[in-house]
Amino acid sequence: MLKHEQIEKSVGLLIVLTLLTVIWGGLLEIVPLFFQKSTTTPIEGVKPYDAVRLAGRDIYVREGCFLCHSQMIRPFRAETERYGHFSVAGEFVYDHPFQWGSKRTGPDLHRVGGRYSDEWQRAHLINPRDVVPESNMPAFAFLQNTKAKDSVGADIEKKMEVMRGFANVRGIPTYSDAEIKGAKAAIGDMTEMDVLIAYLQGMGTALGTMKQ
Ligand code: HEC
Repeated sequence: MLKHEQIEKSVGLLIVLTLLTVIWGGLLEIVPLFFQKSTTTPIEGVKPYDAVRLAGRDIYVREGCFLCHSQMIRPFRAETERYGHFSVAGEFVYDHPFQWGSKRTGPDLHRVGGRYSDEWQRAHLINPRDVVPESNMPAFAFLQNTKAKDSVGADIEKKMEVMRGFANVRGIPTYSDAEIKGAKAAIGDMTEMDVLIAYLQGMGTALGTMKQ
C-alpha cells in the first residue's frame, strides 16, 4: 500500500496523482452539463441568429468587442438591478463560440438589445464621445465603409450550414434550406455597421431588455 508520506516525498508521484485528482474532479463537474437539458436546449424566445445577426456577430468577434464587454449577467442583486435578468444557459445554445468574456472595461452587453434606438447605436459606434462624453470606447466609424457582403457576409451560407451542424447534434431547431439560400439576399447592401447594430439589438431580449 502506498503511504501518504511516500506520495508527499516523491515529487513526480505527487504531481501525477494531483493531476489525476484534478482531471477526475473536473470531468465530474463538466461532463454532466453536456447532457443536462437546461444547458443544451434554447429557452422560449431564443432562436438561431438570422443571417444578418450572424454576420453582425462576426463583426463583434472580429473587432474584439469581447475584450471590453462581457455577455454574462451574474445572479447577484448588484448585477440584476443594473442589467436586468441574470443570464441563463439556455440563452447561449446558438453561440459558437460564446462571447461571455471576462473583462468589463465597458458595461455588460447581454441585455443591451432594445435598450437604445438604432440611431443611438450608430452615433455611439461612430464616435462614443458624442453620446457619452466620458467614454473611452474606441470609435468604429470605419464599419460604415464596407458592405457586409464583401467581408463577413461573403461565405454566410457556409457559416449557417456549420451552425446547423452544431444544432443538429443537439437536436434543436435550426435553419431551413430556404433560410440558408436567402442569406445573401437578407444581408443585401447592409454595411458592417448595419449588421452589427442588428446583432446588438437582438441581444438577450428573450428575458426582457436591460433596465433604463
Ligand atoms: C477599449 C474598450 C472597449 C471596446 C474595445 C469596446 N467598447 Fe463598448 N464600451 C466601452 C466603455 C468604457 C463603455 C461605456 C461608455 C460608453 O457608453 O461609451 C462602452 C459602452 C458600449 C455600449 C453601451 C452600453 C450601455 O449599456 O450603455 C455598447 C452598445 C457598446 N459599448 C458596444 C460595443 C461594441 C459593439 C464594440 C465592438 C465593435 C465595443 N463596444 C468595443 C469600452 C469598449
